[in-house]
Amino acid sequence: MATAESTIKLPKVKHTECFIDGKWRPAASGKTFETINPATEEVICEVAEGDKPDIDAAVKAARKAFDGGPWSKMDARDRGKLMFRLADLIEEEIDEFAALESLDNGKPINEARKGDLPLVLDCLRYYAGYADKIHGSTIPIRGNYFTYTRREPVGVAGQIIPWNFPMLMVAWKWGPALASGCTIVMKPAEQTPLTCLRLAQLAQEAGIPDGVINVVPGFGPTAGASLVKHPGVDKIAFTGEHRTAQIIMRDASETLKRLTFELGGKSPNVVMADADLDKAAAGAYIGLFLNQGQCCCAGSRVFVQKAAHAEFVDKVRKLAQKRRLGNPLSPDTEQGPQVDKAQFDKIMSYIEKGNAEGAKCVAGGDRFGDRGYFVQPTVFDGVTDSMSIAQDEIFGPVMSILTFDDWEDLLARANNTFYGLAAAIWTKNISRAHEFAKRVRAGTVWVNCYDVFDAGAPFGGFKMSGQGRELGEEGLKAYTESKTVTVSLD
Ligand code: NAI
Ligand code: MG
Repeated sequence: MATAESTIKLPKVKHTECFIDGKWRPAASGKTFETINPATEEVICEVAEGDKPDIDAAVKAARKAFDGGPWSKMDARDRGKLMFRLADLIEEEIDEFAALESLDNGKPINEARKGDLPLVLDCLRYYAGYADKIHGSTIPIRGNYFTYTRREPVGVAGQIIPWNFPMLMVAWKWGPALASGCTIVMKPAEQTPLTCLRLAQLAQEAGIPDGVINVVPGFGPTAGASLVKHPGVDKIAFTGEHRTAQIIMRDASETLKRLTFELGGKSPNVVMADADLDKAAAGAYIGLFLNQGQCCCAGSRVFVQKAAHAEFVDKVRKLAQKRRLGNPLSPDTEQGPQVDKAQFDKIMSYIEKGNAEGAKCVAGGDRFGDRGYFVQPTVFDGVTDSMSIAQDEIFGPVMSILTFDDWEDLLARANNTFYGLAAAIWTKNISRAHEFAKRVRAGTVWVNCYDVFDAGAPFGGFKMSGQGRELGEEGLKAYTESKTVTVSLD
C-alpha cells in the first residue's frame, strides 16, 4: 500500500562541519561528501569528510578536556546536571530532530518521534542520574590495611556508530561515557551524519565544556580507522557489522584498547502452537519489519510449530501486505526506504537467492515504486536452515518462516548460528518459555513480546554478535576502570 503524498516541509540542516574543541570547522583536507535522502535519491547537502588530521585534532581536544581539564575537575553531580540539560534541549526540539532523522535515514517520522526520540531522552536521563552514583567498594583484605576500589573513567572514548538508529546510537554511546567522566570523539555513519552534528551543538548549548564531545564525520577506513589506531584513545565502542569489528579488533591490538562491540544477528523468533496467534503474528511482524528491517535484533528466523503454521503464515502475510509505504516525512507512513543503494541492492539480491533456493514468497518480493530505495515487505515461507536467507543477516524487510515440531530439535536449530544477539518465544506455557530463555544462546530474550528496549536493561550479544553490554549498569561499567587502593594502618 502507498501513503498519500502530503505537502511536506523539509527540515533545515544547520551543521555540516567537524565539531572539534567546541568549534565548527571544515575537514583539514577541505573535502566533503554527499548525504542522500533515500526516499528521493537526491542530495540533501555536503558534509565535511574528516580523516586522520581531523581525528588527531579531535583526540587532542578530548585528551586536554580529560587530562586535568574541566571535565575531570567537575563534580560528578554537576556532570549529571549538564546531561539533564542536554536532554531538555533535545526535547524542546523533538519535532525538528524527528524530521531531520527521517530525512537523512528514511525512517518514518512518526516512528522517529514516538520510538527513537523518547528512548534517546530516557537514555540520557537514565545515565545523567548515574553520574553521582558510581561507587567503589571497601574490601577486608588480610593484615592491617584499609583497601578500597575506585571506579574511574576509562579516558578518551572513540565511538563509531551505524546509520540504522543514528540519534539513539549517539545516546547509547554518550550517556554512559559522559556519566562516568569520559571525553568523546565520535564518528557517525557516513549515511546519516546530520542529527549527530546537531546534537553536538546542543551539548555545547547545554554547557558541556569544549573538547568533551567531538564529532568527526567521514568514512570508516579513513576517519574510523584513524580513531581506532590513535594512541591517545583509550577505548573504542563500536556498533555495526561483525566484519568491521574484526578489522577494528586487529587495528586496536597495537594499542590494546578496551573494546565493546554491538554487532549483527539472525535472531530466532519462536511461535509455539499454544501461543495467542494474533499477538504472535503482530509481534513477529514488528520484530522483523520495524525500521525497514534494519535492526540488529530483527527476528529474522521465525520458527513456527507445525500445528500453527498455516494460520500464522496467513496472519503475517496479511499484515505485511497492508503495510503503508511512502514518503517517510508523511505522518501516516509505516515503512520508508532502505538507507542507501548498497543496502537496497544487498536486500534485493537476497530476495533473488530466496526464490532461487526454493523458498516460497507469499508477500512482496519486489522493489516498491521507481524512485527511492523502497523494498516491499517480503515474507518467505518454506525456508530451510541451509538457505542463505536463513543464515545471513539481510538487514531489510525480508522475513523467513521455518517450521518445527520437536522441542529439542528447535533449540538446536535456534542456536545453530554464529550470532547470538536476541531471541523470542510466543507461548502460554511458562515452563517452556523459561527453559527457552535459559537454553538459547542470546544476550536478550523476549517472552510474548519483541523489541522491548529500556535504558536500564543491558543489551548486547553472545558469540559473534558482540562483546560487552550497553545500557543499564553494565553499560556504564564498560566506560570505567577499577582502581584498587591499599592504605597501611600501621
Ligand atoms: P559498517 O560496520 O561498515 O559501518 C558501521 C560504522 O563503522 C560506520 O560508521 C562506518 O563508517 C564504520 N566503519 C566502517 N569500516 C570501518 C573501519 N575499517 N574502521 C573503523 N570504522 C569503520 O556497516 P555498513 O557497511 O554500514 O553495513 C553493512 C552491514 O552491516 C549491514 O547490511 C548490516 O547487515 C550490518 N549492520 C549492522 C548494524 C547493527 O546495528 N548491528 C548496523 C549497521 C550495519
Ligand atoms: Mg561497511
